[in-house]
Amino acid sequence: MGLFISFEGLDGSGKTTQIAGLAQRLRAVGHDVLLTREPGGTAIGDQIRSILHDVRNAEMTALAEFLLYSASRAQLVRQVIRPHLERGGTVLCDRFADSSIAYQGYGRQLDLDWVRAVTRFVTAGVVPHCTIYLDLPVEIGLARKQAAFAAQQGERNRLDLQPLEFYRRVRDGYLCMARAEPQRWLVIDATQSAEQVQQSIWERLQPMLLEMGEAARP
Ligand code: TYD
Repeated sequence: MGLFISFEGLDGSGKTTQIAGLAQRLRAVGHDVLLTREPGGTAIGDQIRSILHDVRNAEMTALAEFLLYSASRAQLVRQVIRPHLERGGTVLCDRFADSSIAYQGYGRQLDLDWVRAVTRFVTAGVVPHCTIYLDLPVEIGLARKQAAFAAQQGERNRLDLQPLEFYRRVRDGYLCMARAEPQRWLVIDATQSAEQVQQSIWERLQPMLLEMGEAARP
């Protein structure tokens, strides 16, 4: 079985840049890295992603939203993630199941136990060995996103139109999950520069990689 690392964080936390940097470093030391993302990562998942992101779908219920993320995940786990892990590869995923616990569970306030139970079924026991959580205050994340939109980088999607309270609950949810499972979660201060964040991730990942031992090595 290979190595599975997921990246989590609020919008604007810099996950996409950091995941690319880590992929490069791991490839340089011999890992067969597969980089993927949620929602999406498969042809079916990408179609589901467009429904989820479409700003015209403002009437989407929290339950429908959760089930669509779950459908995209069910496909990604079986079609892409699990086969690569079974080949002994390394998977880096830009968001995974913890995003649903944070956004649909804590954020939308769906029943947490139920969200967790469905998610266990959807992921078929595939759990990241390590989850890198890029933490930053909600206001900073939103300001970064606004700046990116102003510079015409990235398009506003349905999830960008939530009240501040929603993102606060999401962040609290992430911090709560990280506290509950410190052996899996690496909390990184994402207010640092991109280079510092990259370095912190690499340094903090080393002991975890060693601890995982041979089973998690290429
Ligand atoms: P994306 O454009 O990928 O944003 P980001 O770069 O911040 O990851 O959009 C993904 C959005 O979907 C993001 O706002 C978080 C949300 N999301 C959920 O609400 N639940 C989920 O299970 C997942 C995977 C994402």
